[in-house]
Amino acid sequence: MKGNNMKEDIERVLISEEELKKRVAELGAQISADYAGKEPLLVSVLRGSYIFMADLTRSIDCFCRVDFMAVSSYGSGTVSSGQVNIIKDLSDSIEGKDVIVVEDILDSGNTLSYLIKVLQARHPASIRLATLLDKPSRRTKPITADYVGFTVPDEFVVGYGLDYDELYRSLPYIGILKPCVYQKD
Ligand code: IMP
Ligand code: MG
Repeated sequence: MKGNNMKEDIERVLISEEELKKRVAELGAQISADYAGKEPLLVSVLRGSYIFMADLTRSIDCFCRVDFMAVSSYGSGTVSSGQVNIIKDLSDSIEGKDVIVVEDILDSGNTLSYLIKVLQARHPASIRLATLLDKPSRRTKPITADYVGFTVPDEFVVGYGLDYDELYRSLPYIGILKPCVYQKD
């Protein structure tokens, strides 16, 4: 059960605002160097990646385009259902484009392996993955990201875009949620 305010429900801060800012700037610099002379299309996987997307795009200094896609795989639980649904598709064609898929967290890999397959079929020039967080210990699909912000342990984390039951996205840091919030009593 959730408490009276967001911050009370956080067991501890895993990644601070300062650490996020520094690392996202590093990823932006790396992407700017890798895509120099190109015009990548950044595809944000909604909703979890919205804050990462906003900060990442502002630290990339080559011309880039943005588009958005919404998928769901979780319902309100903390374990992936394995079923991925496209709720909102991209607005524009990606044919011939250098696509960078921007995700909040790579967990089982279900969501991204499905999405990549869907996007590959649309004939982009290239596809790479940028994920803020990587939880490799839970991977069930053979997928790795090209750009990783932080590798995190097998704990349920929220904040900086990531939710539990659609709450906690607006926390400015990544925190570990107290298990009592999601455990049934
Ligand atoms: P996957 O399909 O299991 O890789 O899960 C990817 C999606 O699950 C992410 O885009 C998140 O929305 C959600 N997710 C996985 N782990 C967490 C977590 O620790 N906190 C919040 N959301 C998570
Ligand atoms: Mg989510």
